[in-house]
Amino acid sequence: MTDIGKAGTFTLGPRVVKRMGYGAMQLAGPGVFGPPKDRVGAIAVLREAVAAGVDHIDTSDFYGPHVTNEIIREALHPYPKDLVIVTKIGCRRGADGSWNPAFSADDLKAAVHDNLRNLGLEAIDVVNLRAMFGEHGPAEGSIEAPLTALADLQRQGLVRHIGLSNVTAKQIAQGRAIVDIVCVQNQYNLAHREDDALIDDLAAAGTAYTPFFPLGGFSPLQSKALSEVADTLRATPMQVALAWLLQRSPNILLIPGTSSVAHLRQNLAAAALRLPSEALAKLDGIAPTRPT
Ligand SMILES: NC(=O)c1ccc[n+]([C@@H]2O[C@H](COP(=O)([O-])OP(=O)(O)OC[C@H]3O[C@@H](n4cnc5c(N)ncnc54)[C@H](OP(=O)(O)O)[C@@H]3O)[C@@H](O)[C@H]2O)c1
Repeated sequence: MTDIGKAGTFTLGPRVVKRMGYGAMQLAGPGVFGPPKDRVGAIAVLREAVAAGVDHIDTSDFYGPHVTNEIIREALHPYPKDLVIVTKIGCRRGADGSWNPAFSADDLKAAVHDNLRNLGLEAIDVVNLRAMFGEHGPAEGSIEAPLTALADLQRQGLVRHIGLSNVTAKQIAQGRAIVDIVCVQNQYNLAHREDDALIDDLAAAGTAYTPFFPLGGFSPLQSKALSEVADTLRATPMQVALAWLLQRSPNILLIPGTSSVAHLRQNLAAAALRLPSEALAKLDGIAPTRPT
């Protein structure tokens, strides 16, 4: 079994987690809606992740909805002391599987209680407020009212730490004036590098950055350069994509998603993969850094 500690650790608020974690979104049914075809397999993935040393799992009660959290609870409760579960709120699923903004104070309170109930927790380690202003990626809009409501739930002891997801630098600054922000979760990977400057700023501030879709999400990454580097290193393209993220910045925490134990093992093994400088240069060329 890979020593995932080889990828190092970073802080999530006062907690220290291994940089190689796991994202649970793939454990719900197709379209992240309804139950999975293989619930036993989903439970096996979670147990394997924790047995391999994963201490950071990303989830949401809107995966399913409820399904993914119920599976996490069945697989892992009572939770290991060192496990940090991060969830996100700000969205409600429609009966057709649609993803709809749910930002009122009542929506957010209900979402926190849904997570607590379905995960079997008295307090949630980290809750990300997931902004929903744009259809494709972060878009400007005030997060003051929903973040103030979430901070209130934190004061009540239901939420330990707060992060932001799908946000701009301006929204992070606005958020920091309201409450301590322990992590930012935006889309970022080898081919999708809009957040290059933001990642560096967050690293300088000691704030964790957790890229979602680290492997490309619903359309896993495909690139000639990626395949060539993988062949040279006798690794898989997905392992190289994860190793590139680990080497990109020390504040990056990985949460690759999979519903397969075989893929999980491959992904965890990326914790021990070091990319030489020629490989990094070739991979950087897939989507050059954006000017700030
Ligand atoms: N904040 C947000 O708005 C937001 C949005 C999306 C996701 N997230 C979080 O980010 C996490 C990661 O994102 P994600 O799961 O959507 O995307 P991802 O990690 O980029 O990729 C998952 C996809 O890659 C496949 N895959 C995984 N490992 C593989 C391997 N070794 N070889 C080949 N294919 C592999 C998976 O299929 P298999 O199941 O077949 O392995 C799945 O189709 C989620 O679990 C969720 O917690 C957050």
